[in-house]
Amino acid sequence: MNKTTILNWSELEDRKPTYALVGDVDLVVVRFDDSVSVLYGRCAHRGALMSDGVVSGKNLICGLHGWDYRLDSGISEYNNNEILPKFNAWVEDGKVLVDADEIADWAASHPQPYNRDAYQGIYQDSHGTADEPHVKWIRKLSNEGLRKVGHHGRAGAMGVPRDQLPRWETCNSSWPSCTGCHCSMMRW
Ligand code: FES
Repeated sequence: MNKTTILNWSELEDRKPTYALVGDVDLVVVRFDDSVSVLYGRCAHRGALMSDGVVSGKNLICGLHGWDYRLDSGISEYNNNEILPKFNAWVEDGKVLVDADEIADWAASHPQPYNRDAYQGIYQDSHGTADEPHVKWIRKLSNEGLRKVGHHGRAGAMGVPRDQLPRWETCNSSWPSCTGCHCSMMRW
């Protein structure tokens, strides 16, 4: 157990999601009347900061596309497979405390992809979705420009479609440039 203060209870506005960082893990802290909830602070959808969301009833709602998570469990009522891990938290001597060991244990099996010093910092979308498959590539270009791919951008092998390759039956070995190999026909 590594008791760690993340906020002063008196500064925590009721039902207003608030950001905290422990180790490398973004958290969202919500005061709800006399209780406090500390959840993983990144939406399971696209990684938005949940501290930018709102509280509606007993749910924490992501500010980007409206995914919901129960404050008391971190589990979405809409889809129980969408979950924000919930960490132990309590109020002691006017402070909100968590167990930094518990959070570090979780982080060991869930390495955080956010580079706080890079372009977009903590506002990065680390994974994209199937309908937006190029997010990672766009981020890479934003970070590195063309340094790693050259001025021409990404290059791949220029394959020739099979139906455009010369065939034995069209080979004309009487051509002056012919070396006996049909490939030489390609010298135009
Ligand atoms: S990032 Fe949270 S709902 Fe899309």
